[in-house]
Amino acid sequence: MELLEQRIREEGIIIDGHVLKVDRFLNHQIDPVLMDAIGEAFTERFKEAGITKIVTLESSGIAPAVMTGLKLGVPVIFARKKPSLTLGKGSYTAVVHSYTKEETNKIYLSADFINADDRILIIDDFLAKGEAVMGLIDLVKQADATISGIGIVIEKSFQDGRKRLDQLDYPIYSLARIASLSETGVEFLQE
Ligand code: G4P
Ligand code: NA
Ligand code: NA
Repeated sequence: MELLEQRIREEGIIIDGHVLKVDRFLNHQIDPVLMDAIGEAFTERFKEAGITKIVTLESSGIAPAVMTGLKLGVPVIFARKKPSLTLGKGSYTAVVHSYTKEETNKIYLSADFINADDRILIIDDFLAKGEAVMGLIDLVKQADATISGIGIVIEKSFQDGRKRLDQLDYPIYSLARIASLSETGVEFLQE
């Protein structure tokens, strides 16, 4: 997605040679116009996939997921990082290890909103080692729903996540694929 690559080049800040900070439009301040274009791109890719619901993870997955849900005309469910009082007894849990934060956390999804008839599109903001998306896949499987696609806003293709996901054979669409990060800037994979 050219517009997204341009924003990453112009506004992304590279930290420690492997982390891309995009707080100007995605992870802190959010650009609704860019989110709208992201929603359009995911919709274009997955509109024939019979998606009935989108599943993402709070907090940064929510904006791109909601824009996509608006255009596909389906609800968006975000997995929580803390057990909520309102989750009730019927909830699914998965374990996610964050390498950047060096901690292992659980994520939670209420059993009320997904069932075996659902065709799920999983959306997340970043794909690094794939832990978060693997956790979301785990939750959707516990609900016996079908995973019909995975949409990633920014994929760090030099980390393991994409390879792990490719082994599972789900349709994956990453809007920006980063081949490398360095002092000289961001290199995107040419497709
Ligand atoms: P993984 O999910 O792909 O395995 O990666 P990891 O555990 O390392 O990621 C932990 C958090 O850091 C996730 O956000 C993930 O989206 C984010 N992240 C990973 N690499 C980058 C990067 O290069 N740049 C940015 N900006 N984020 C990265 P989170 O903790 O769930 O936070 P949030 O969704 O509330 O923003
Ligand atoms: Na994030
Ligand atoms: Na995330």
